[in-house]
Amino acid sequence: MFVTFEGSEGVGKSTQLRLLKEYLEKTGQDALYIREPGSTDISEQIREVILDKKNKTMSSMTEALLYAASRAQLVREVIKPALENGKLIICDRYLDSSVAYQGYGRMLGADTVKRINAFAIDGCMPDVTVFLDLAPKSNWRGDRKADRIEEQPDDFFERVYEGYLAEIALSPSRFVCIKPDFDKYATSKHIIEELKNRGAIK
Ligand code: TYD
Repeated sequence: MFVTFEGSEGVGKSTQLRLLKEYLEKTGQDALYIREPGSTDISEQIREVILDKKNKTMSSMTEALLYAASRAQLVREVIKPALENGKLIICDRYLDSSVAYQGYGRMLGADTVKRINAFAIDGCMPDVTVFLDLAPKSNWRGDRKADRIEEQPDDFFERVYEGYLAEIALSPSRFVCIKPDFDKYATSKHIIEELKNRGAIK
């Protein structure tokens, strides 16, 4: 089973991933936890280039291709071998992030981004995608030091959110859409229930 987590910035994705991991460990369920871009030596090096604020002149197409390159390595080095061994994979962001951020945020178009990524993912699509459904708030950045994506203006993140909703409408059966509750434990319980219903976890 290949499970991905998606959402806009500041929706509590990291917290939910941590709570899911705690649940799986407590119940003795083995899983592989990875994140995008990254999780292989080469993909982490590509991540540095993508997120480096010094790279101000990077074109949107270069950015999309770099995310795809990082993904191509992760698919071949980690995801495919793990799935062949029957492992459960929990991945923090994947293809839908590229469609939402580069396709809609950068306005390259969803179809262009999907075409590029067809080479990268080589047929490897998530079985279930958990989408934390919260519209971007203007104050999500707080005090954090923005990377090259995070320093984009608010309208970029509004397009990203719209992009996610458009993608979900295209393949509703793959997505579990969760509106984060104020209580992070309630949200986590909800996610776990939904993943159990899909047979992704026990
Ligand atoms: P990260 O610090 O991992 O962000 P988050 O905690 O929000 O997941 O940085 C990844 C950034 O890259 C994030 O801003 C989303 C962006 N991104 C894309 O623009 N396209 C992609 O394909 C992926 C995987 C991430």
